[in-house]
Amino acid sequence: MPNKTIVISVVSTKGGVGKTTFVANLSGLLAALKLRVLVVDADPQASMTMYYPLAGEPRATGLADVLYRGGHILAEDVAATSIPGLSILAANLKAPDNKSVPVENWLQTRLDGIFMLKNAMKGAYVQDNFDVVVIDSQGSTGTLTGLAAMAGDFMVASFRPDFLTHTAFYSDLMPLLESLNVLRKQSPELGTGPVRVLLNDVPRTKNARMIAEALRGEFRPHANIHAHPDISVLDTFVPRGAAYAEATTNQCPVHQFDRPSNGKSNSGYEVMHQVVYELLPHLKGVWADGNIESNEVVQ
Ligand SMILES: Nc1ncnc2c1ncn2[C@@H]1O[C@H](COP(=O)(O)OP(=O)(O)O)[C@@H](O)[C@H]1O
Ligand SMILES: [Mg+2]
Repeated sequence: MPNKTIVISVVSTKGGVGKTTFVANLSGLLAALKLRVLVVDADPQASMTMYYPLAGEPRATGLADVLYRGGHILAEDVAATSIPGLSILAANLKAPDNKSVPVENWLQTRLDGIFMLKNAMKGAYVQDNFDVVVIDSQGSTGTLTGLAAMAGDFMVASFRPDFLTHTAFYSDLMPLLESLNVLRKQSPELGTGPVRVLLNDVPRTKNARMIAEALRGEFRPHANIHAHPDISVLDTFVPRGAAYAEATTNQCPVHQFDRPSNGKSNSGYEVMHQVVYELLPHLKGVWADGNIESNEVVQ
């Protein structure tokens, strides 16, 4: 049976570039569009695990247990959040008592280590219960980032247009992509999916505009990129705006918090819908009815 769950990995080799905020807003909107969504927190800092309140008690197990088991997710690992339709596999990446090495070190001792999360995505529990999985990852070039990158049908590379992030893109992310794709020639299954670069947390400055334009030029269609044959920059970008941080504080997806209003374009509601339509074109034209009451309460 072919896989039907769509897996989206959100990666970057730098921290603090808006990955977790984006994962929370993307997964929150997809759930509001009535998809069954699982978020996997693959960052030991566990920011995504703490982002939304849980509907019940936290689970005793999480991603580390799934990996130690050889890549099997069980129902008991996954917790429902307070957002209807949104569940989470918590990071839980510390070594369990009976293991002497952290999961990252252990993964490196396994020949199939890099494929462990990808395998977990193919399991019956995920395939039967979720339409979409969104994976949050740590900002590094480490094993867990590779694991997350490999697991996705495609990757969203979160890119804040500043000079240091631009530099890191070439010095870190491209070599990571290249190393993850060395086996692609044997079989495409052994490489990563396409890379969609998201300009994220974009300030309204000339500097940001220049870096964004440079990046679009470098990854124009058919550019000959050595690291991966399929890298492109999304047309939609996520602007820097107070609403994103405020939505986080309110533990609420930004589409619910920052609604379109008279005279204001580019609300979180509109931006996140446009991102979804680019990433998952079959959803085009579907809008979240949202929860206007909760927006009024927080204002
Ligand atoms: N679009 C945005 N506008 C304003 N602030 C943002 C935006 N996206 C993220 N941030 C802020 O940037 C900081 C880092 O974001 P975070 O999502 O934790 O990054 P990462 O997961 O890549 O480390 C947080 O304080 C977050 O509130
Ligand atoms: Mg994060």
